[in-house]
Amino acid sequence: MLQPKADTKRNKIYYGHLSIFYERGDLPVAFLDRFSRDMGIDLGTANTLVYVSGKGVVLQEPSVVAIDQVQRKPLAVGEEAKRMLGRTPGNVVALRPLRDGVIADFDTAEVMLKHFIRRVHEGRTLVSPRIVIGIPSGVTGVERRAVMDAAQQAGARTVYLIDEPVAAAIGAGLPVAEPTGNMIVDIGGGTTEVAVLSLQGTVLSESVRVAGDELSESIISYMKKVHNLVIGERTAEEIKIAIGSAYPSLDDNEIGMDVRGLHLLSGLPRTLYVKTGEIRESMAEPLAVIVEAVKRTLEKTPPELAADIIDRGIMLAGGGALLRGLDTLISHETGIVVHIAADPLSCVVLGAGRVLENFGQMGRVFSAQSSG
Ligand SMILES: Nc1ncnc2c1ncn2[C@@H]1O[C@H](COP(=O)(O)OP(=O)(O)OP(=O)(O)O)[C@@H](O)[C@H]1O
Ligand SMILES: [Mg+2]
Repeated sequence: MLQPKADTKRNKIYYGHLSIFYERGDLPVAFLDRFSRDMGIDLGTANTLVYVSGKGVVLQEPSVVAIDQVQRKPLAVGEEAKRMLGRTPGNVVALRPLRDGVIADFDTAEVMLKHFIRRVHEGRTLVSPRIVIGIPSGVTGVERRAVMDAAQQAGARTVYLIDEPVAAAIGAGLPVAEPTGNMIVDIGGGTTEVAVLSLQGTVLSESVRVAGDELSESIISYMKKVHNLVIGERTAEEIKIAIGSAYPSLDDNEIGMDVRGLHLLSGLPRTLYVKTGEIRESMAEPLAVIVEAVKRTLEKTPPELAADIIDRGIMLAGGGALLRGLDTLISHETGIVVHIAADPLSCVVLGAGRVLENFGQMGRVFSAQSSG
């Protein structure tokens, strides 16, 4: 693909053989910007977010694609497709192409990425962009390649990969460039990543494939086992967000909600009232896995950096950080102050965006780059 080049001495922009003169005072940068839309992408298990250079976060959609299996084409992508999860007729499937933070269904992931990138381009033909993508730190080389390939197939010129904890920390406003230890815990849909960062790099990190999805799944199992009520993934997530909590509180017995599902014994739909306390207990196991990951990382942290973390506290990011009482639970278990990022769901994409806007100074943060 051609790249526009500016000659500021002659006030000209070259685009292949084509050259365009611009008036003195007009910023060639603004002109170039019309051709190129560099992007930061958080390709998450649950949500995909896109940041466009010079604009900010322009897209935030669930990572779901609905496909018509007869015509073999996508029917809906994002929010619209998520509404179809578990509600599709025989010939339509609503898929989540990512599982555990990595691409599980390559073709569908590519369809989704292409769709989002096209939507961000607003139908204009543009120079293929540079794309910075956040990926979990624990993924294999093959999984990295799959993410890069999908982005290139979707039209990226060069793909840069950034470890999600690094991006999340930058997005949460932590001073990652300083020689100070910072701990970030990103609890997404598929993975929980715990990392200690200093000087723009990862000192140590741990990634467990237990996060928000697993919490919802525990609610599904609990409802089935204890109440004989079968509920879907969406309902379980709604319960988690509405009344889920990680730490006991005084009003535990007062908070609850009606849940609709299919009663196993009668085979009929039924509404049942559940309380926040039982929902918390149902999530105890995955919550313990998350807490253990934080503790293990703390135990391995070199003393100077551990001292910094005690001073500065632990930063929570990712949608899971919004679970009521999770900060209290982690703080209680580790004895360290826990903060929640201002916008936990956007940390990774905001971090990728910051890097994009400061390419020169922050180039060191990338963990991989495609040729191009
Ligand atoms: N208010 C809330 N309370 C509890 N959980 C929430 C809340 N809001 C969102 N979540 C959960 O956060 C998760 C999604 O978070 P996020 O968008 O950070 O994940 P992701 O980046 O797509 O996943 P990953 O990083 O694992 O690939 C989902 O499991 C969702 O149920
Ligand atoms: Mg994430």
